[in-house]
Amino acid sequence: MTRPLAVVTGATAGIGRVFCDRLAERGHDLLLVARDVARLEATAGELRARHGVAARVHAADLSDEAATGALAESLGTEAVDVLVNNAGFGTTGTLARTDPAAQQRMVRVHCLAPLRLVQAVLPGMVARRRGAIVNVASVASFVTVPGTVTYSAAKAFLRVLSEGLAAEVAGTGVRVQALCPGFTRTEFHQRMGAGGTGIPDWAWLSADDVVAASLRALDRGGPVVVVPDLRYRAMVSLFRHLPMRMLTWVETRVPMRRART
Ligand SMILES: NC(=O)c1ccc[n+]([C@@H]2O[C@H](COP(=O)([O-])OP(=O)(O)OC[C@H]3O[C@@H](n4cnc5c(N)ncnc54)[C@H](OP(=O)(O)O)[C@@H]3O)[C@@H](O)[C@H]2O)c1
Repeated sequence: MTRPLAVVTGATAGIGRVFCDRLAERGHDLLLVARDVARLEATAGELRARHGVAARVHAADLSDEAATGALAESLGTEAVDVLVNNAGFGTTGTLARTDPAAQQRMVRVHCLAPLRLVQAVLPGMVARRRGAIVNVASVASFVTVPGTVTYSAAKAFLRVLSEGLAAEVAGTGVRVQALCPGFTRTEFHQRMGAGGTGIPDWAWLSADDVVAASLRALDRGGPVVVVPDLRYRAMVSLFRHLPMRMLTWVETRVPMRRART
């Protein structure tokens, strides 16, 4: 008997890597997407050995339109049961000073690629009346932070897209989630050259806890926007209810500014 297929982008590290383990434990076969082929193969080997599932790899740079298109085309021919749009990265520096190419890559990886992959798998999910799409956004989607504004804007796109999509597919059997973690211990901050300095210890989440919150919400049938951890939920609730002028004041003063610029 074939097992349902889960596709995870950014599958080789951090949050994506944990999604692979948890989905394999739940009986899914896996298709892993990232750029580093050797690391993809090693991760797939670990998953096969640990969980006895079929794990395939697809190397693609999701900032590359042609590579994303080829992946989307191949996913359109498969019965994808779960899609986790997770691949991502951060940049530091204000728009006046940073490389425009990196900002455009950010929009392609965080917005255009997930949109393309969603549209590739959605018709099949709707026809089969089952499936789940998890778009990994961020707490940053609720607040713009100087030094990382494209990231906040891209994650807001992904969150709002997910909220709208969830409404569009209501009643079809397809579940949609915008997963919005706060600071999570992964390779993310080292890769962006920030190393996580300036972020207090209490603010860090584990990738295990983030993925557990996501899967719990999927099992319960909601909510669409999942913010793991009570402290971050309180923070997001505050951001959402502050008067706009006060939010702008906060945005220019929060400690994240020091961490991210
Ligand atoms: N860590 C946090 O504090 C945090 C907080 C909120 C939201 N998030 C979001 O969570 C998601 C996962 O982040 P993480 O913290 O787990 O990061 P991570 O540990 O750095 O892992 C990133 C993964 O994405 C892949 N990737 C990066 N750029 C890619 C590209 N252009 N094309 C294809 N794959 C790419 C990487 O593999 P390759 O390098 O081999 O491609 C790796 O597998 C991201 O969307 C991030 O924005 C993270």
